Amino acid sequence: MRVGFLQFSPELFHEKQNLEKISKMLNNCSTDLVVLPELCTSGYSFNSKNEMEPLSSTADGRIPDFFKHIAEREDTALVAGFLEKDGNQFYNSQIFIDPSGTQTIYRKIHLFLNEKDLFEAGNSGFKIAKYNDASLGLMVCFDWIFPESARTLSVMGADILCHSANLVLPFCQKAMITRSIENHVYTITSNRVGIERSGDQALTFTGMSQITDPQGNILAQANEVEEVLIAVDIDHTTAKNKMITEKNHLFEDRRKEFYEV
Ligand code: ACM
Repeated sequence: MRVGFLQFSPELFHEKQNLEKISKMLNNCSTDLVVLPELCTSGYSFNSKNEMEPLSSTADGRIPDFFKHIAEREDTALVAGFLEKDGNQFYNSQIFIDPSGTQTIYRKIHLFLNEKDLFEAGNSGFKIAKYNDASLGLMVCFDWIFPESARTLSVMGADILCHSANLVLPFCQKAMITRSIENHVYTITSNRVGIERSGDQALTFTGMSQITDPQGNILAQANEVEEVLIAVDIDHTTAKNKMITEKNHLFEDRRKEFYEV
């Protein structure tokens, strides 16, 4: 299957431009799956819920409709971060959508820094989305620092971890190599680039989006600044084999009775 990431710089508060850019960059993408960054339709650095309100969408609202349209147009599955509103609550959410319109929503479990003041901690639980015979594990940005996220998704059957990110620290890309090896899965980290200024803060996002294989090889990587769609061909079925040697199974050999957690 041909899988990729879209790395770009969303403009804070400028949904129309962001959707236009996504639509343009995915034109004729010839992929089976593309992962997009966290909060990629709205930007990231909100100061208040009032600022978030006009950029938010329900799980059956205009943002899922937009991604459904692109998934149908390009005959590809998409995984993308968006600002979800449910009742009076905001969630840092991620949508999986396939060309038939089947969708799964994951709500970010581990909120980072000031996100804690604006979003509710995700209550969806970890999610697996099926596409053809591939199992896609959904995770958002800071989930990476908790190895339990990737492990849980992998034990749930994920072949590919689809990781939408707005990374500001430089460690994640290296950690995802380890997540690949320790869970024998592919990972796709789609990070954003650019500098976002809001109020008195400026955030520089670190790019370097990447795809890793179950051996921890980096199959593709963007640089720190480019806006780019990169895709590679993978055989996702190789992630289903969890034997590390003929006598060692990654999950069955765990000795849970000795673990503190
Ligand atoms: C992050 O979770 N956006 C760092």
